[in-house]
Amino acid sequence: MILVTGGAGFIGSNFVLDWLACSDEPVLNLDKLTYAGNLANLANLQGDARHVFVQGDIGDAALLARLLAEHRPRAVLNFAAESHVDRSIHGAEDFIQTNIVGTFRLLESVRAHWLTLPADERAAFRFLHVSTDEVYGSLAPGAPAFTEDHVYEPNSPYSASKAASDHLVRAWHHTHGLPVLTTNCSNNYGPYHFPEKLIPLMIVNALAGRPLPIYGDGQQVRDWLYVKDHCSAIRRVLQAGVVGQTYNVGGWNEKTNLEIVHTICDLLDAMRPRADGASYRAQITHVPDRPGHDRRYAIDARKIERELGWKPAETFDTGIRQTVRWYLDHPEWVQAVQSGAYRDWVAAQYG
Ligand code: NAD
Ligand code: DAU
Repeated sequence: MILVTGGAGFIGSNFVLDWLACSDEPVLNLDKLTYAGNLANLANLQGDARHVFVQGDIGDAALLARLLAEHRPRAVLNFAAESHVDRSIHGAEDFIQTNIVGTFRLLESVRAHWLTLPADERAAFRFLHVSTDEVYGSLAPGAPAFTEDHVYEPNSPYSASKAASDHLVRAWHHTHGLPVLTTNCSNNYGPYHFPEKLIPLMIVNALAGRPLPIYGDGQQVRDWLYVKDHCSAIRRVLQAGVVGQTYNVGGWNEKTNLEIVHTICDLLDAMRPRADGASYRAQITHVPDRPGHDRRYAIDARKIERELGWKPAETFDTGIRQTVRWYLDHPEWVQAVQSGAYRDWVAAQYG
């Protein structure tokens, strides 16, 4: 079996669902169920013996030792993290604890387990760390996209904590020989995306008649990848990636935030027109910029294509249409995640 951490979050739950759709290899899913963890994402796996869920913290060494000894996974895939830049600006403690201390504890626990394995299992074992393009910092307009050799220049507490975790993973390979793989991916979007992030927030706010808050001038650029494509990239890296290597994963879809929000409004205008006949664009409002806001990210995903034959299946046009459709078709999911804690966050962030 494989051990997935953070498998009740946005990308982790998509990964678990896709994994079990393509394979019968069981998944041990370790997730703390923070505000971002949602077992409703995995409702389709209820009663499926291939999915074993454990609520717990990647920083809990005793729990990890027990789970690793009991289940003997052939690979560990680390998705668990605090993932929202804005939250890391309001308070970084949880980011330091989970993304840095938690990754360290996980690496140490996995190393102790890995050392007990017979030689053939030890050689085949993999620790795959899921990271972000934000560790590379911000690009000037027209500058070449991030390659795997780009200098690390994280600018937010979130990206600094992810950069630290990447460095720990690298060191556990170079110093201790742990067979690691690291992926650095651009912005994901798709089903089960928590509505604190740009795309789901805009869809949910538009439908509820609320303002669509654009930070600053809205000309910041991100590269967008449909989440199922990220999941297929991770499966491919696990299968064929070279130990110790890092792979950048991206969608070749650089867009400004304003372009993204206009696209969402136009799709909603066609799929669920406003009762008054006006465009959802009328709800766009400009709000103060995010402190330290990175201006541009862009991923050069040629290495994973050249060496592992992976490239995205979706274009932005096909991916965003499916995403908007998914949110229109799942109002009960949206309602359920908008708990009291979520409303407190929205009040603190947007006043
Ligand atoms: P998310 O916030 O939706 O989910 C994170 C999950 O981790 C949640 O289920 C949460 O309960 C769990 N978790 C948090 N702390 C934990 C802990 N201490 N122990 C166990 N579980 C814990 O995040 P996501 O968007 O799904 O991102 C998953 C991973 O991918 C993260 O490592 C993130 O840095 C990385 N990533 C995200 C994106 C993106 O666009 N969302 C892009 C590139 C990389
Ligand atoms: O690049 C990969 C990263 O993408 C991941 O590592 C992070 O986990 C993930 O959260 C995401 O980070 P971003 O900060 O890019 O995503 P977010 O959805 O928060 O914001 C996307 C852009 O939209 C960013 O430029 C800020 C802007 N924005 C965001 C929100 C929530 C707005 O203009 N208004 C908003 O209300």
